[in-house]
Amino acid sequence: MEVIITATPETGARTAARIVEKLVRARPRAVLGLATGSTPLGLYGELIRRHREEGLDFSRVTTFNLDEYIGLGADHPASYHYFMHEHLFGAINVSPERIHIPDGKTADIPAACEAYEAAIREAGGIDLQVLGIGHDGHIGFNEPGSSLASRTRLKTLTQKTIEANQRFFTSADEVPRHVITMGVGTILEARVCLLLAFGESKADAVAAMVEGPLSASCPATALQWHPRTTVIVDEAAAARLRRSDYYRYVHANKPAWQQDATFSFGGHE
Ligand code: F6R
Repeated sequence: MEVIITATPETGARTAARIVEKLVRARPRAVLGLATGSTPLGLYGELIRRHREEGLDFSRVTTFNLDEYIGLGADHPASYHYFMHEHLFGAINVSPERIHIPDGKTADIPAACEAYEAAIREAGGIDLQVLGIGHDGHIGFNEPGSSLASRTRLKTLTQKTIEANQRFFTSADEVPRHVITMGVGTILEARVCLLLAFGESKADAVAAMVEGPLSASCPATALQWHPRTTVIVDEAAAARLRRSDYYRYVHANKPAWQQDATFSFGGHE
C-alpha cells in the first residue's frame, strides 16, 4: 500500500486527478470505478477543469459506481445517480451508455447485482477504482462484518452510516436502510485502487485500514491484500498513522523512474 500525505485536501484532490488523468490519457478506453460522498468532490472538480481547460477526453471511458440506495430513482436529489450527474457526468463528455450505477429501483435485486458483476466483467474489469472510507472503515457500503470475498449485493446500512449520510437528506428517517453495493471482493479485483480520505474525523479509520490487523470488522483493511492501492490523505486524516514518517520518506525518495509517475499503468510497482 502506498500512502501519500498531502498538506491539504485540495493538494490531495490534484494528486488523485493527476493519477486518473494519466490513466485516461494512456488508455482512452479506461474503465473507472467511481465513488460518491464528500470525499471525491475535489477530485471530480479537478477532472472537470482538466476536461474543460486541458482537453481531457472521457468520450471512450466506461464507468461503474460503487453503490446506490434502494428505493431512490435517478431523479431523487439524494440518489447517487443524481449526485454523479451533478458533480461529474453532467460536466464531462462521458457517453451516457458507458455509465453504470446500480439501479436502486430494480424489481429483482439479486438479478440486478449479478448483471452488474457481468457488466464489469464484459467491460474487461475496472482499471482504477476511486474509494472513500466511512468512519467505521466501510468501503463502498460494505459495512463492518462484510465478507472480504463479497460481490455486488444488497447491504443494510449501520446506524452510524445512516447518521453520517443524513446530511444529504432532510432527516435521518429519510435515509434508506438498504443499498446495493459492489462487494469487497469486487473492489479487490480492480487493477488499481485509489482511496482518498480527508479530515480529522477519518484519522481512526485510516490508521485501522493502513496499519491495523486485516479484519472484516474494518472492511477497508482488505486493501492490504490488494497489490496496487494508493491511499491519499491530508495531514489531519494521517494524524494517527504510526509510520507516517516512513510514508513521507518513501514518497520523497522515490527512484527517478517512479517520480513523475506516482503510477505507471504498465505493470506492478
Ligand atoms: C460512496 C461510498 C462510501 C463513501 C464513504 C465516505 O459511494 O462508497 O464508502 O466513500 O461513506 O463518505 P464521505 O466521502 O461522504 O465521507
